[in-house]
Amino acid sequence: MSNLFSVKDKVVLITGGYGILGKSMVHHFAAEGAKVVVLGRNAEAGEALVADVKSKGNYALFVKCDVVNREMLDQAYDVIMKHFGRIDVLINGAGGNMPGATIPPDKTIFDLDVDALKSVVDLNLFGTILPTIVFSKAMAEQKEGVIINVSSESSIRPLSRVCGYGVAKSAVNNFTQYMAGELALKFGSGLRVNAIAPGFFLTEQNRTLLTNPDGSYTDRAKTIIAHTPFRRFGEPQELLGTLQWLASDASKFVTGTLTVIDGGFDAFSI
Ligand SMILES: NC(=O)c1ccc[n+]([C@@H]2O[C@H](COP(=O)([O-])OP(=O)(O)OC[C@H]3O[C@@H](n4cnc5c(N)ncnc54)[C@H](O)[C@@H]3O)[C@@H](O)[C@H]2O)c1
Repeated sequence: MSNLFSVKDKVVLITGGYGILGKSMVHHFAAEGAKVVVLGRNAEAGEALVADVKSKGNYALFVKCDVVNREMLDQAYDVIMKHFGRIDVLINGAGGNMPGATIPPDKTIFDLDVDALKSVVDLNLFGTILPTIVFSKAMAEQKEGVIINVSSESSIRPLSRVCGYGVAKSAVNNFTQYMAGELALKFGSGLRVNAIAPGFFLTEQNRTLLTNPDGSYTDRAKTIIAHTPFRRFGEPQELLGTLQWLASDASKFVTGTLTVIDGGFDAFSI
């Protein structure tokens, strides 16, 4: 039987590819034989990751790109199409909370920096919408392709303090469903759009919320773990099986879904 889960030779774009979760996705898909394109703003970090992937005998290419900059996205599209002539998978991984858009414990919604909130919405929502519009053009022409949006637990039930982040990720879920319908109806059932909702993973964008300067867990981190039946944070590699399933023919009839990967956080009350 052929390998239903194969992603070999697929052109897989990963935005935010040198972030903590992104990096693990890049190494995984490259090791699975995909042609991985790392998209990000920092050429030094991107090229270092590509060199690391190549040192393991696998393939990756870095293309400089800011996910909220349409002009850069269009340029990246041209570079990628010139290189590979097609795009099979887009993982919209760039995103995260921003410290300025977080309401500290001693403040309220009335103290919120609305401009910071707009920036976090811009990154998480428009940083998903714009790459989707730009890169799915190739998928529409090919009549096949897969988009996977990285949403969050905060899209399902609001988490305290991160108002803008939750609002944006919630809209990402709605956009995922919208695009699933839009692309399939107009370009056929070879186009699929799904999202994952990771629970809690210790990364750069949430480090100040979850850890103190000495590395110990904050009260918020302890509360999260107490509310998680697995009693721990996730490890980046625990997203990979779901991503491979969604990226491959193994999920051929799956579109418009949100898969929760959270050690039971969302299923649990007391
Ligand atoms: N860490 C968690 O617990 C968690 C939980 C749920 C969802 N997520 C989501 O996972 C994704 C990856 O985040 P992470 O936790 O690995 O954080 P991270 O900070 O390690 O990575 C985020 C990446 O996005 C990139 N990025 C930010 N703005 C960008 C822009 N304008 N253009 C291009 N790239 C940009 C950053 O440079 C970085 O590489 C994000 O969408 C985040 O919201 C994370």
